Amino acid sequence: MKQRFESLEILKTAEEKEQCEVPRISADQNTGKKRKLYLETYGCQMNFSDSEIVSSIMFDNGFDTTSDPYSADVIFLNTCSIRENAEQKVRNKLAQFAHIKRNKPSMMVGILGCMAERLKAKLLEEEKLVDMVVGPDAYRDLPSLISEVDEGEKAVNVFLSREETYADINPVRLGGNGISAYISIMRGCDNMCSFCVVPYTRGRERSRDVASILNEAKTLFEQGYREVTLLGQNVDSYKWSSEDGTETVNFAQLLERVALINPLLRVRFTTSHPKDMTDEVLHTMARYHNICKYIHLPAQSGNNRILELMSRGYTREWYLGRIAAIRRILGDDCGISTDIITGFCSETEEEHAQTVALMKEVKYHYAYMFEYSERPNTPAAKKYADDVPSEVKNRRLEEIIALQNSHSLELNNLMIGKVYEVLIDGTSKKSEEDFKGRTSNNTTVIFPRENRKIGDYVQLRITGCTQGSLFGVPVSE
Ligand code: 5AD
Ligand code: SF4
Repeated sequence: MKQRFESLEILKTAEEKEQCEVPRISADQNTGKKRKLYLETYGCQMNFSDSEIVSSIMFDNGFDTTSDPYSADVIFLNTCSIRENAEQKVRNKLAQFAHIKRNKPSMMVGILGCMAERLKAKLLEEEKLVDMVVGPDAYRDLPSLISEVDEGEKAVNVFLSREETYADINPVRLGGNGISAYISIMRGCDNMCSFCVVPYTRGRERSRDVASILNEAKTLFEQGYREVTLLGQNVDSYKWSSEDGTETVNFAQLLERVALINPLLRVRFTTSHPKDMTDEVLHTMARYHNICKYIHLPAQSGNNRILELMSRGYTREWYLGRIAAIRRILGDDCGISTDIITGFCSETEEEHAQTVALMKEVKYHYAYMFEYSERPNTPAAKKYADDVPSEVKNRRLEEIIALQNSHSLELNNLMIGKVYEVLIDGTSKKSEEDFKGRTSNNTTVIFPRENRKIGDYVQLRITGCTQGSLFGVPVSE
């Protein structure tokens, strides 16, 4: 399929994921459609993946995309609600669009995604600029919502579905490199972690039809893609059953089937849940060279009382048992990353120190670290006081960031002198003469371009590193 969104890149590496705070903007597409859509995406990979669905639906309904909000007939912000500052960014952006709308009153503004779902019609009252509020399960309705706005109405659809997986919609690939793509394998979340807004913004968990996932992966491979990332809030609870109930597929089996499409197609996945990650998944990863040896396993805290208050469904000991299983089955080179929240309700210094100790014990390749941000109507907001002062949250956060930085550097140093296979996914930001790619364990390597091309695999000996990336030289095969 033709790429229609060249500038929307996939978040491939830890550093790039960190930048997911920066919105992704649609690129210019000139296929002669009547109207133009400007689409800005905030938040997680799932949201980027949803924007690929949105752009597909919009393209089929008469919209080319643009990178220039001034030339747009429709502006969509696909939003995130996970922390308060994610929502604040969207509100600031809306304020910036106000003057465009003043000069061009016919331009419509739509809020899509998690913030739309959380605030529903209230958003229309709070933000006068907004014409349309559309939740994550209502994108098929976009054409009729646009017609409503065309007729001078405001339009809202925040219906959450128990079935919608958009399985039959061919996503427009937003990943600019033509090498890596996301495949959404499930939607929603049933875990009900007490801090988290996702079960309310994305609804009940549902798994996508296995055949449609495999078809999407096969098509991508035929189009030249060499890496797919299977996406779900909790991939370990993927479960699909055929209508007659004779066939069921769990996550390990799905992973195997995707890996079997072609040994040259790398398979990644995110996010794993410590309470559900099975040895079967780890053994499947070990069996297939093309399933990347990288696991994102959010711990959130290293203290059992806090884990209990968070309703995470595991203890520190259980979590460490899962880390031990990864090391036993996949070895020390398997990349492991985590999410940590500092300053959750009533967290003491000693409890925070246990999180620090957990990080020291595991030594993550990478961590996504956040201060706790109370989200309205979540179980934590209803039951517990958000009583850790923000300067304490912040100090704890800075402490773990500094620790993580030292761990990332230390682990990268350990890779020096070894040889790794890297999938080339682009040109280095610093020099046209260099390419970049990633190892199976998700570390970025920069190396001389020579006569290679994007999408090739190359064996590299690691010669140096920074905290964020490695430097390598090709070894002759
Ligand atoms: N405050 C801070 N961080 C949060 N996360 C989810 N909800 C919140 C919140 N209310 C973090 C968790 C999760 C990641 C996607 O975002 O660490 O794993
Ligand atoms: Fe993604 Fe969660 Fe943000 Fe929604 S609230 S966009 S699911 S991170």
